Amino acid sequence: MNYSCKTEPSASIKTACLIVGVFQHNRLPPLTGQFDEAIGGQIKRVLQRKDFTAEAGQTQLLYDPEGCAASRVMLLGLGDEKSFNVRQFGNALVTGLQQLNGAHVGECAVLLPNKAEDSDTYRLVREAVQAAETAVYRFDRCKSDSKPPKKPLKKVTFVVAARSQVKAAERACMHGNAIGIGTRLAKDLANLPGNLCTPTYLAEQAQALARGSRKLKVTVLSEAQMQKLGMGSLLSVSRGSRQPAKLIVLEYKGGKPGSKPIALVGKGLTFDAGGISIKPAANMDEMKYDMCGGASVLGTIAACAELELPLNVIGVVPSSENLPDGDANKPGDIVTSMSGQTIEILNTDAEGRLILCDALTYTERFEPAAVIDIATLTGACIVALGDQASGLLANDDSLAGELLESGTACGDRAWQLPLWDEYQRQLDSNFADIANIGGGRGGGTITAACFLSRFTKKFKWAHLDIAGTAWLTGAKKGATGRPVPLLTEFLLRRAKVTM
Ligand code: BES
Ligand code: MN
Ligand code: ZN
Repeated sequence: MNYSCKTEPSASIKTACLIVGVFQHNRLPPLTGQFDEAIGGQIKRVLQRKDFTAEAGQTQLLYDPEGCAASRVMLLGLGDEKSFNVRQFGNALVTGLQQLNGAHVGECAVLLPNKAEDSDTYRLVREAVQAAETAVYRFDRCKSDSKPPKKPLKKVTFVVAARSQVKAAERACMHGNAIGIGTRLAKDLANLPGNLCTPTYLAEQAQALARGSRKLKVTVLSEAQMQKLGMGSLLSVSRGSRQPAKLIVLEYKGGKPGSKPIALVGKGLTFDAGGISIKPAANMDEMKYDMCGGASVLGTIAACAELELPLNVIGVVPSSENLPDGDANKPGDIVTSMSGQTIEILNTDAEGRLILCDALTYTERFEPAAVIDIATLTGACIVALGDQASGLLANDDSLAGELLESGTACGDRAWQLPLWDEYQRQLDSNFADIANIGGGRGGGTITAACFLSRFTKKFKWAHLDIAGTAWLTGAKKGATGRPVPLLTEFLLRRAKVTM
C-alpha cells in the first residue's frame, strides 16, 4: 500500500473517493465542516434525511457530488463526538476501507477528523495506516480459486488540517507502514497450517528475511548443535515429532557496535497437540497458532529493518512441534535444561516453557539490555484477560512500565499480573529442581511466568502471554499480528525516534 499526506482544500482533491468523518447528532469534524460549506451543504442535507445517523462504522456513499473534484464521497460514521478517540477512528476506518477494497476504486483520500491546532495527528494517521492494513489483509494462499478484489485499494492519501501537521503525518505513515509490514509477516506465518509451517519452514523464512537487509544476520541451530549446548529441555519436546526442532537466531544491527541489544524471544511451537497429555479435539486446529510469539519476533525484526532503527535487536525463536509419539515426553519424565536445572514434566502440554527456558538461557550470551519473551503460553491467560489485553509479567518494574505505556499508546495493550515470590512454591517438585506445571489452585499464567523466571535471573526480563490476543476465533478466525505493534512501539521509544 502506498501512503501519502498533504494539506489542500478538500473540495479540490482529485480522488476516486474522499472519505469524510461525521459524528452523531449532525456534528462535523473541522475539515468535514469546511468541505460541506465548499460543496453547498450537501452533507448537511443528507443528514437531515436521518437514515445516515453516523453510528461508528456506518457509511454512506455520495456519487459525483457537485462542486468537488472527488468522484465519490464516503460519509463515515465516527460515533459520539464526546467519546471519540484514536481507536474509534481506526475501527470506523477499517469498515469504510473494507467496502472500498471491494469496490471499483483503487485509491482514496481520507480527511483527518482533528483540528489544525491538535497534537494527535501522528497517532490518528498511524492508526489509520494500521486500519488500512487490516482492511486489505487476506490470506488465501491455500484456496485453489482465490479471487482477489478486481481493483484492490493500492493508495491512501491523508488530508491534514494544516501545513504544520504534514511532517508528523508523514512520520506516522512511515512508522505505520513498517508496523504493517511486520504485522502482515506475522499473520501470514501464523495463518499457514502446521503441515506447511514447520520449524524448518520458519527457519527458512527467517533466512529469507535476513537476505533482505544488510543489517540482519541469521543463524539456525540444528538439533545436534542444541544437543552440544545441553538444551535437554527444548529437545525433549521435539523428540515426539518427526520434524526437527530449530533454534532461529536473528541479529538486527542498527545500533552502535557494542551497544547492548534488546532480545526478543518468541515461542515457535508450529503445532501443539499437547503430546502424551493430549488436548481435547475441539478447536485443536487453532494450535497451529502456537508459534505466534515466534512469528511476532520475525515481524518485529522486519519492522526494525524497514525503519532502520538505530538499535541492536536480537530475535530468538525456539521452534518445535508437540505431538504424542512412542518417543515423546511422558508425564513424570525428568530432563536437564541448558541452565543445569532439572525439570519434572508433570504435563507434556506445558511444553512452551520447556522450549523457552533453554532459549532464554541461550540469550544470556548476548548480554542483553533487556529480554522480552512472547508466547501463547497459557489458556489461563484467556480466562483472566480475554482477547483484549496480553498478559504481562516482569522481574523489572520499569521495563514492565515501558511495555504497558507502549501498549496503551499504540492500542495493542497489555495488563500486568503479579510475579510474587509466594507463587514460586507451586512449582516445587519431589524429584527434580522444578516442576513444569503449578500445583495447587489456579494462577496458571503466573506459575508459567514463575517457571520462566527461574531462567531469567541474569537480565531484566518481561514476559508477554499472548494466548488470548494472537488470533481471533469463530467466524473471524485468523491471526491478529499482535503484539508486533506493541513491540515496535517499545523499540521506537527505546531508539528515541521522534513520533
Ligand atoms: N499453547 C498452549 C496454551 C494455549 C491454549 C494457548 C489454548 C491458547 C489457547 C500451551 O502449550 C498449553 O497447552 N498450556 C497449558 C498449560 C497447562 C498444562 C499447565 C494450558 O494452558 O492448558
Ligand atoms: Mn501445550
Ligand atoms: Zn503450547
